[in-house]
Order: sequence, then C-alpha cells, then structure tokens
Amino acid sequence: MRQILIKQNPDELAKAAVDQFAQIANRSIVAHGSFSVALAGGATPHHLYALLASDNHRLKLDWSRVDFFFGDERHVAPDSDQSNYRMAKETLLEPLDISASRVHRWQSELPDANEAAKAYEDELREYFERSGRRLDLVLLGLGEDGHTASLFPNTPALGEIERLAVANRVEKLNTDRLTMTFSSINGASNVMFIVSGRYKAEAVQHVLEGEFRPDDLPAEPQERHDRHRQQH
Ligand code: 6PG
Repeated sequence: MRQILIKQNPDELAKAAVDQFAQIANRSIVAHGSFSVALAGGATPHHLYALLASDNHRLKLDWSRVDFFFGDERHVAPDSDQSNYRMAKETLLEPLDISASRVHRWQSELPDANEAAKAYEDELREYFERSGRRLDLVLLGLGEDGHTASLFPNTPALGEIERLAVANRVEKLNTDRLTMTFSSINGASNVMFIVSGRYKAEAVQHVLEGEFRPDDLPAEPQERHDRHRQQH
C-alpha cells in the first residue's frame, strides 16, 4: 500500500518521518522481537536521524533491538566526510550509543569495490538467514535525475536481478558506488522515500506519474514495473 505524505517544510517532514519510522519499528519489534533498517545517505535524512536521537523522540522505541544497514555507500573510507556511514554515526548511532554489533556498514575502505560489495552481500544473506526474513524498512532518498540509493540512470546495477548488493560504475560521477539492488530493496517489508526541496518536485512527479522509463528513472515504484510487464 502506497502512502504519500506532503509536508510544508523540512521540520514537519522530519517529524512525520520519525513517526512513520517509530510505527514500523515498533510493529516489527512486537512481531519479531527485532527491527532491521537500511539507512539512506545524502543530506536529506540528516535531520531525521538527529530528531530520532533527540530527547523528544529517542524513547519512542527500544534501540537495543534495532539492526542498522546502509542502502548505499560511497567508495570512501568510513571517516571521510563523503561517507554515509559517518553521517549516520555522528547524527544517530553514536548519540544513541548503538552497539557496534548492531551496525552493518559497507567495508567501503576496501580498494576493490567489487570485493566490498561481495562482503556486504554475504553479510545481508547471513542476516536474512539468521533473522528468517528480509529487511523491515529501507529508507531512500531521491536525486533530481531520478536515482535512488546508488542506482543511477543507465548504470549496470539497474539490470541486476540475482545479487543483493553490487559495486555500480557511475560514469557521470567518475566513481564506483556501493549499492543495494532492486532485489534487496523491493524484498523489504517497507520502503520509505524522504524527499525534500522544491527542486526535486519534477523528479517526484516523473517517478510517480510520468512516462514509464525505468532506465532513466530508477526510483520508479515496483508496481509500475509490474504493470508495464503485464501490459507488454
Ligand atoms: C547517496 C544517497 C543518494 C541520495 C540522493 C539524494 O549516497 O547520495 O544514498 O541516493 O539519497 O542523492 O541526496 P540528497 O538527500 O543529498 O539530496
């Protein structure tokens, strides 16, 4: 079931995202005794993470039952200011004193991006086997070009159907990104996009209602892919 919440400003957006996050987390903790979430990178979730760790909201769930993953990562060291892990560590994981055993980060410091992706895939598969289920929630952002996680338009990872995590060559950024694939994202029980800024309105409109162009707009919802497949 798709739900679209439109908020007036970043504060209201972050507050609404905190409530959605806490609802999904507590539902999972009641049902399974634990909650697994893949965090989004980029700038937009920064506010959400800080709010979740704030005195006003941190008591909304039992953080000792949460396992943290990352939807994607830049091919940089974990202390780099480009690191999604570092951003989450400073705004959420450290303030909440999350145990290192519950934090599953990409080994993005490995020189070989494919090796880092394989290691993360193994960690995901091991976790799915141990927990007996896929991720409970994947948080995602949206780029103006329609990318999400590090699934950029017209890049090799878009065609990946077997793997759960890959290194994705992004020529326009002249770099390899580390990203979960459609298979691991769409396998999750819940997916939540957090998108902020007037300059992204067109991308949101295209992804939700525009012409079906999956290679140009990787963030297009799965049901559009399914509908397209049924009609062709
Ligand atoms: C990343 C992200 C990426 C991000 C979008 C939006 O590593 O950059 O995972 O998919 O969510 O690029 O980024 P902003 O929130 O910074 O606009």
